[in-house]
Amino acid sequence: MEKDDLPQYTPIDEHAVSRDTRRRRLRLVRLVAVALIAYTLYLCSINSSHLERRKTQILSTDKLRTDHAICTKLRAAPESAKGRRERNARYVDGHGPVLIRNATVWTGEPSPGTSSEEAHFGKGYSWIHADVLMEHGLIKRVEAGISSSDLPDNCTIYNADGRQLTTGIVDMHSHSTVDPLPDLRGWSDDNELSDDITPYVRSLDAINPLDHQLQVIKSGGVTTSLILPGSGNNMGGEAYVIKHAVGKHDGRSEISAQDMLADPDKTWRYMKMACGENAKAVYGRVGRDFGPFSRMGEAWYFRHAFEQASALVQAQDDWCGAADKVGAENMETYLPQDLQWESLGALLRDQVLLNVHCYTIPDLEAFVRHTNEFKFKVQAFHHAHQTYLIPEILKRAYGGIPPAAALFADNMYYKAEAYIASEQAGKILWENGITPVYVSDNPVLNAQHVVFEAAKAYKNGLPYHVALAGVTSASAELLGLGDRIGKIKPGYDADVVVWDSDPLSVGAAPVQVWIDGTPQFEDPVELNKPRSKPLQELGVEDPAMSQAATSGAQLHGSKSDGTLARSDEKDIVFTGISKIMIQGHEQIFDQGNATLVLKSGKVICTGDCTEELSAAEAQGIKKVVLHNGHIAPPLTAFGSSLGLEEITAEPSTTDGDNTDSTISRAVDGLTFDTKNLDAAYSHGVTRAITPPTFWYGGHKGISAGFLTGAAHALEERAVWQDEVALHYTLTKTEKAPALSAAVGQLKTKLLKAIKSNATDVSGEYLWLPRVVAGEMPLAITVHSADLIASLLRVKAEVEAATDHTLRLIIIGGAESHLLAPSLAATNTSVLLAPFLAFSETWDQRRSLTGAPLTNGTAIDVLHSAGVKVAIGTTEDWQTRDLYLAAGIAFANGNGRISESEALGFVSGNVYEMLGVQGPRGWEEFVVCEGSPLGIEGRVRAVVDGRGWVSVWS
Ligand SMILES: *[C@@H]1O[C@H](CO)[C@@H](O)[C@H](O)[C@H]1NC(C)=O
Ligand SMILES: *[C@@H]1O[C@H](CO)[C@@H](O)[C@H](O)[C@H]1NC(C)=O
Ligand SMILES: *[C@@H]1O[C@H](CO)[C@@H](O)[C@H](O)[C@H]1NC(C)=O
Ligand SMILES: *[C@@H]1O[C@H](CO)[C@@H](O)[C@H](O)[C@H]1NC(C)=O
Ligand SMILES: *[C@@H]1O[C@H](CO)[C@@H](O)[C@H](O)[C@H]1NC(C)=O
Repeated sequence: MEKDDLPQYTPIDEHAVSRDTRRRRLRLVRLVAVALIAYTLYLCSINSSHLERRKTQILSTDKLRTDHAICTKLRAAPESAKGRRERNARYVDGHGPVLIRNATVWTGEPSPGTSSEEAHFGKGYSWIHADVLMEHGLIKRVEAGISSSDLPDNCTIYNADGRQLTTGIVDMHSHSTVDPLPDLRGWSDDNELSDDITPYVRSLDAINPLDHQLQVIKSGGVTTSLILPGSGNNMGGEAYVIKHAVGKHDGRSEISAQDMLADPDKTWRYMKMACGENAKAVYGRVGRDFGPFSRMGEAWYFRHAFEQASALVQAQDDWCGAADKVGAENMETYLPQDLQWESLGALLRDQVLLNVHCYTIPDLEAFVRHTNEFKFKVQAFHHAHQTYLIPEILKRAYGGIPPAAALFADNMYYKAEAYIASEQAGKILWENGITPVYVSDNPVLNAQHVVFEAAKAYKNGLPYHVALAGVTSASAELLGLGDRIGKIKPGYDADVVVWDSDPLSVGAAPVQVWIDGTPQFEDPVELNKPRSKPLQELGVEDPAMSQAATSGAQLHGSKSDGTLARSDEKDIVFTGISKIMIQGHEQIFDQGNATLVLKSGKVICTGDCTEELSAAEAQGIKKVVLHNGHIAPPLTAFGSSLGLEEITAEPSTTDGDNTDSTISRAVDGLTFDTKNLDAAYSHGVTRAITPPTFWYGGHKGISAGFLTGAAHALEERAVWQDEVALHYTLTKTEKAPALSAAVGQLKTKLLKAIKSNATDVSGEYLWLPRVVAGEMPLAITVHSADLIASLLRVKAEVEAATDHTLRLIIIGGAESHLLAPSLAATNTSVLLAPFLAFSETWDQRRSLTGAPLTNGTAIDVLHSAGVKVAIGTTEDWQTRDLYLAAGIAFANGNGRISESEALGFVSGNVYEMLGVQGPRGWEEFVVCEGSPLGIEGRVRAVVDGRGWVSVWS
C-alpha cells in the first residue's frame, strides 16, 4: 500500500501528461503577462484624465453593490455558534427522542472546579454512571436516574446495561469517499495531480456517499471524519467534515454529500497542504517545465502561491475600504476576484482551518517560516513523526497556538521521512505542551480501528484522558467544532457510542452508534464478552500519570525517542509473576508472587524459589520487580519483508523484487541489526520467517527463518532455517497476464516437478520436487476466494498424480473464510495477513470486518471450521502489535478462542502449518508486565535462547 494515500503511479506516464499541461500553462503565463502589461499601460493612460474616465464608466451598479456585499463576507471572522441550540441543524423531522439508560459515561471533560493545570494531568476526569437523553439531534440531559415521568412523549429507551458510553469518534484525516473502497482506478479522486498547487479544488466535489467503507468506519464508532484531499500536491485543496450517516437507511432524508456535512452552517472552511517527499516525487524532473524537484523548490512553490493570495487579499481590502468611503456605485472597477486564489485568500483571512501533511524537521521548520511570512495558522501537522523532537519550533508558528500533531501510534519507518519516529511521540508532545491526536489516513489504516491508535498511544505512556481526547474532543476542537461534537454534554450533537468494553481496551467494539440521535445499526452483532469495568477501575495503572507526577516534563528512559534502555544480562531474577502462559507450562499465581531465576541465560527456578532468590541476592544479581508479571511465549512474524527491507519506499534499503523470470532465497539477502528488527525484538517477536518479495508487494522464492535479535547471519542460530517454504503470489504479471494463466502455469510447474529429475534442474525446479513430495510447504499469497478455490482444484489434481499431500498455505486470505470447510477438509492452512482485512482491494472485497457489522472476522470462521490458522504481517510495523492481535482474537472470539489458542495464532500455529520445530518451552520466552494480550502489557525482557536475557528498564 502506498503511504500517505498517494496513488500508485508510473512516473513516466504521469510526467508525459504533466509536461504537456506545463507547456500549455507556460504559454498561458506568457499570454497573461502580455495582457497585464497592456492593462497597466491602459491604466496609466486613463489615469491621466480623471474626468474622461468618469465619462467612460460603464460598470454595472448592481454588480458593484453585490461586490460590496461580498466585502462583508470577506471580513467575517468565523465564530462557532454560541449559546444553547434548541435543535441540531442536521436534525431530520420525525425522529423521536431516545433515552440511553444505565450507561458508564465518559463526558470528555473534567469535573467542574478542576483547574486547567490539574486537568492537564488528568485530575477530575472519570467515568460517571448516568442516563443520556437525546432529542432533536442534540444531547439534552446527562444525569443519573432520569425519571420515566420526566421524559418527552414517544421516547425510545435503550438499556446500556452499565456499558461504557462515549461521544462518537472523530477522525481528522480520512480519504474515505474520495478514494472509495475497494480501490478502483475509476474512483480514485483524492489527488488532483494536474498541478502541484491546487488550493482551488474541493473534496466535496468528489465525495461518493455510496462508499461502503463509510459504514465500516462507522462500525468502529467513528461518527465524524475530515475528508482531506491526498498529499500528492503541496497544496491539495479544500477539505470537508462529514458525518457517517447516508440516506434513509441511516436516518437521513437523501443520499448526498451536502447532507453529510457535519456543520450545515459551514462555520469553517478546511484545507489540506503537504510538505516533503510526495510532491517532489510526483512532479520533480530535471528541467524548467517541471517541479518542485526538491524541498527548496517546494518552499518556493508554497511562497509563490501565498504571494498571489496575499496580493489578492490586499487588492480586495483596498477595494472594500475605498467602497466603504466613496460608495460602491462610485467605484471605478469591480471587486478584484480570482477563483484560483479565493480559498487561499480565505486562509489568509483566518476563515480556513489548515491541516498540513509534514513529517520532518526541515519541512516543519520551513512551513512554520511560511506561516510567519504570510501570517496564517496551522491546526495540525499530520504524519508529524518528527514533531516530538521540536516542540519549540512548533511554538514559533504564527498565531500563538502551536499546531497539534496528528499521528499514527506505531506505523513508521515506511519511507525516508518516517524513519525517525517514536511510539512515545504522543507522550513526549503532551509533556511539552503540544496536543497529540490520532488519525487513520483511511485507507492507509482502516479508520474503523482509529480508536485503537489512541489505545496504543495510551499503552505507550500517553495518559488515558489525553489519548481518548485525541480521537474525540481534541480533534473536534481542531475542527473548530469543539462546542458541538466530541463530548457528552447537554447542547452537543447527539453522536454517541455504546461500547462492549472500555474503548481503549484491546478489541473494543461498539454495540450501537447514534448520529444526531438516530441509531445507525438496525441489527448490530454484539460479541459475547464479559461485562467489564473501565480500565482504570480494573486497577490498570495509567503509566504516564505516576511518571508525570514525579518528573514533570522530563523525557523518560535514556533514549531521545523515549524508549527504555536495554541491557543484556546473563544472571537475573524476576519477581512479582502472576501467570506463566508458555505452552505446556501454564500456571497462575493468584498472589502474583512467583519468581523466575536465570543463570547464564538459563532458567534455574520458577515459583517461590526461596533458596535461589536469597543466593542471588547474596551475589548482588540484578533483580527486576514486576507488577502483575506474565511469562509469555515469544512470537514469530511471518509475511512481511522484515529482514529484507528497512525503509520500504527506499530501494537502496531493500533486497528488491523477484520477477517472473527470477527466484531467490531470502537467506541470501537477509539484513540484520536494523531498526525494524530491533522493534520486533523489543516487542517480544524473537523470530521472523520472511520470503523474498515479488512485484505488487507479493512473495516469490524461498523464505528463511531467522532470529530478530541477531547482529549478523553468522551468529549462533541467527538463521535457524535456510529454506522454509516455496512462495508464489497470484497476481497478473508480464508472463501471466491473466490470473487464469497464473494458476495454469503454477499447475503445469507442479505437475512437471513430479516427473522432473532433481539432479539436472535449476530455478524453481530446485525446490518444486520437494513441494510435490510433501516435504516443503507451498505458500501462495492470495486473497480472493475464487482464486483460492482454483488453487484447491490444482492441489487435488497434483495430489492425484502423487502419493503425497501438498502442504498448501494461503498467505493473505482475506476471503478465505468463504471456503472454510473446504480448507479444513483439504488440510490447507491460512496465514491471515493482514489479520483484520477490509475491502481495500477488489480481491478483498468480501472481508469480514467484525462486530457490529459481521459476526466475527475471518479468524473466527476459520478457527471454528477447524482450519489451521495463524496471524501474519503485511507491513513491518505490524510486528510491534502481534501480541495485541492475539489479544483481539481472544477478546473478540465470542468465548470460543482461549488465551493459549490466541497466542498460538502468533507462535505455535505458524510452525505447525510449516511442519517446522518452533521455540521450545523455557528456552525462548518473553517477560511482560501485565498481560501481553491486554493494552496494559509491556515487554520487559526477552530470552531467545542464546545465553543471555535482554532487559528494558
Ligand atoms: C411516535 O413515534 C412513532 C414512530 O416511532 C410515530 O409514528 C408517531 O407519530 C410518534 N408520535 C408522536 C406523538 O410523536
Ligand atoms: C446497570 O447495569 C449493571 C450491569 O448490568 C447492573 O448491575 C445494574 O444493576 C444496572 N443499574 C440499574 C440502575 O439498572
Ligand atoms: C455468531 O456466531 C457464533 C458462532 O461462531 C454463534 O454462536 C452466535 O450466536 C452468532 N451471533 C450472532 C449475533 O449471530
Ligand atoms: C504466594 O503467597 C502465598 C500466600 O502468602 C503462598 O501460599 C504461596 O506459596 C506463594 N507462592 C509463591 C509462588 O511464592
Ligand atoms: C533421475 O536421474 C537418476 C540418475 O540420473 C535416474 O536414476 C532416475 O531414474 C531419474 N528419475 C526420473 C524421475 O527421471
